[in-house]
Amino acid sequence: MNYNNFFEIKDGWNLQIKELKEDQLVHYGSNLLCGNGYLGYRGTLEEWGKEQYQACVITDTYDMADGKWRELSNSPNALTTKVTVNGKDFGDYPKEDRITTELDFNYKYGIFKRISQSKLESDFEIVSERFASYDNLHLIANKYQINNLDKKEMKLKIGINGDIWDLNGCHLENFTGEYDSNKNIVYLKANTVESKITLVTALSFEFKKGKIKNLKVENEEKSIYLLIKAEAESEKIEMERNMIVYSSNDLNGPLKAALNDAESALKIGYDELKEKHQAVWDKKWELMDIQIKGNLLDQLAVRFNLYHNIIATPAHSERLPIGARGLSCQAYQGSAFWDQEIFNLPMFLFTETETAKNILKYRYHTLDGARQKAEDLGYAGAFYAWISGKSGKELCPSFFFKDVISGRKIRNHFNDWQIHVSPDISYAIWKYYLATEDIDFIVNYGSEILFEVARFLNSRVHYNQFKDQYEIIRLLGPDEYHENVDNNAFTNYQTQFALKKALYFYFKMENEYPEKLEEIKDKINLNESEITAWQEISEKIYLPQPDQSNLIEQFDGYFELEDTTAKVLNDRLIDKAEYWGWPNGVAVFTQVIKQADVIQLFTLHDIFSEEVLTANYDYYEPRTQHGSSLSPSQYAVVAARLGRAEEAYDYFKKSAFIDLMSTNKAVSGGTFIGGIHTAAAGGIWQLIINGFAGMKIDKAGLSFKPVLCQEWEEIQFKLNYQNKKFEIRLNQNEFQLKTAADNSEALKFSVFEKEYFLDAAAEVKIKL
Ligand code: BGC
Repeated sequence: MNYNNFFEIKDGWNLQIKELKEDQLVHYGSNLLCGNGYLGYRGTLEEWGKEQYQACVITDTYDMADGKWRELSNSPNALTTKVTVNGKDFGDYPKEDRITTELDFNYKYGIFKRISQSKLESDFEIVSERFASYDNLHLIANKYQINNLDKKEMKLKIGINGDIWDLNGCHLENFTGEYDSNKNIVYLKANTVESKITLVTALSFEFKKGKIKNLKVENEEKSIYLLIKAEAESEKIEMERNMIVYSSNDLNGPLKAALNDAESALKIGYDELKEKHQAVWDKKWELMDIQIKGNLLDQLAVRFNLYHNIIATPAHSERLPIGARGLSCQAYQGSAFWDQEIFNLPMFLFTETETAKNILKYRYHTLDGARQKAEDLGYAGAFYAWISGKSGKELCPSFFFKDVISGRKIRNHFNDWQIHVSPDISYAIWKYYLATEDIDFIVNYGSEILFEVARFLNSRVHYNQFKDQYEIIRLLGPDEYHENVDNNAFTNYQTQFALKKALYFYFKMENEYPEKLEEIKDKINLNESEITAWQEISEKIYLPQPDQSNLIEQFDGYFELEDTTAKVLNDRLIDKAEYWGWPNGVAVFTQVIKQADVIQLFTLHDIFSEEVLTANYDYYEPRTQHGSSLSPSQYAVVAARLGRAEEAYDYFKKSAFIDLMSTNKAVSGGTFIGGIHTAAAGGIWQLIINGFAGMKIDKAGLSFKPVLCQEWEEIQFKLNYQNKKFEIRLNQNEFQLKTAADNSEALKFSVFEKEYFLDAAAEVKIKL
């Protein structure tokens, strides 16, 4: 099947791009990314360089090169290659019309394969395959073959290219490199310009077929190359090589580690390295795969999104964030937004709970950064950064966008007024607790976050004495076009929730873990009057209620704004690249919103009646631009909850294809925001599990309200809830839940409000 002339698919795991298109290079790089949570190697050909957006982003390498953006650094490219046959260089694809190239990507194991054929040189062919290992996170293994070499001699230029694609300034300096001819290992060492992190990239290689006749080392300022004259064997050259990356933030002595790994990877060999890597993925997919019957493209799209949510996540560490663009490029600074807890995390809560814990522990380790931000802005407690890197300090520049017409900077207040990220983290901690019952985490990590967030909220609310209520003024909700608003419904509800959960665990610990509570109280200087304040605020915070038409106003005065649509606003633009939001964008004085806001409240809290959901969905839906990739999946969840499965399916397509069909914009308001939309990727999991299967967890437990769109015959997935595993199958007529044979306790859940208890290896089928 051929989709939009972009790609073809053979099955639910593999896609093929038969003809490269130059305007798609930036998307191929991200979509065909090999990654493992430590690094992300873009889907580029070995012959490509920075002009074709070749990059390999490395976690934990934050650096500021341009005085404005602190972002992750890219590693020099150890897979760089130039092939010369019969005196002709091959490399400038897709402009190169002597070569046709096909790209294949396997999402089960993150394997990138390219096959290039020369049109002029009879059957001359380059076949290359690579993966970013999950067995050794520092390794990218590559098998590079040149076939049908009728002329036996050819030239190869390999090595490590340090002249790489960087978004905001060049991050590496002081390059040194060496080649060890006994071991066939090359390395290039450099340091980041501002943060002075040492980054080592090593390359080990071996010719499995063909011979090196002559080898010359060529050092350039930022690169080290090996110029090889090679002789083919049975008309073939086959090279196995390994790219290894370590930084001084990983360990002391990154050079030694890189050289060791390079040597041992060579000994192990490509095929065995691949087997080990695949075994890790096989284990992951046991609980993480979602099977869709009835539509192959949708199946592939679902796995594409799951894959990207997984490889964006630094599961190996409890001190690193999930970037809003993962490790697909440097956009959004390799940093966490609220996306991390509300979009990326849910999938892990019910599959890889250790990873979920690491994601939340990251917020514990960055408490100091959040405290610092609160203090800098005159508040107490933990005000989490809008853009949070390693330390948790605010990375969001005050001037995020610029006015593309005048060229002037725009003062966006994402960094100081978008406060909901803090209660969102408290919300996620509560969900983690419900999904895992991991009270140790709460006692040792979560409670301190909850208390500090509650403390921040206490310092941020305003008491309105005329109304005897607490309000939150001058803020931004999820809809980023409307800054400087008062009482954003989403934020106010989240605030109450966060305060209540802080109180819940405070009292629970007072009863069950008094010593631990005292320890934390001492540590953060928490006093009784603060607890009283949290109680009072949680009781008296203003929560916008549904009006006579059942509508909840997004913020004070929203309904008085001009009532129009995104389409109308589009016609008002002077320049298509204009920023729509605050202070002067076309959406500011209208009801057109960037993304789900009141609807976002509904996906997190099931506290409103169906009438309220319906009224608000119908009202806000036509007024939402979906200018953020976070939005469609949330509308889908609510649509499914309302039984509107076909609308949910339409939103599925909008969300799942953002990257796959390259429908996203790479630049907004003069800022590059391309790369993989990891929140949308995580949103696909929610859309299916919380939307179609209608799964929800709250204090009452686990429940389902399933509905399925016509396009799909059946969906099937496995989950882990409170250490009990189960499998769900859902089709138009039936909902089936089967518990795993090794569950040690019965699973309690409800479907359409009817309760069930299932022992291990039992199943229930419910007619729909
Ligand atoms: C959205 C935010 C989101 C950020 C990073 C913005 O466009 O409006 O809600 O956190 O992108 O994904």
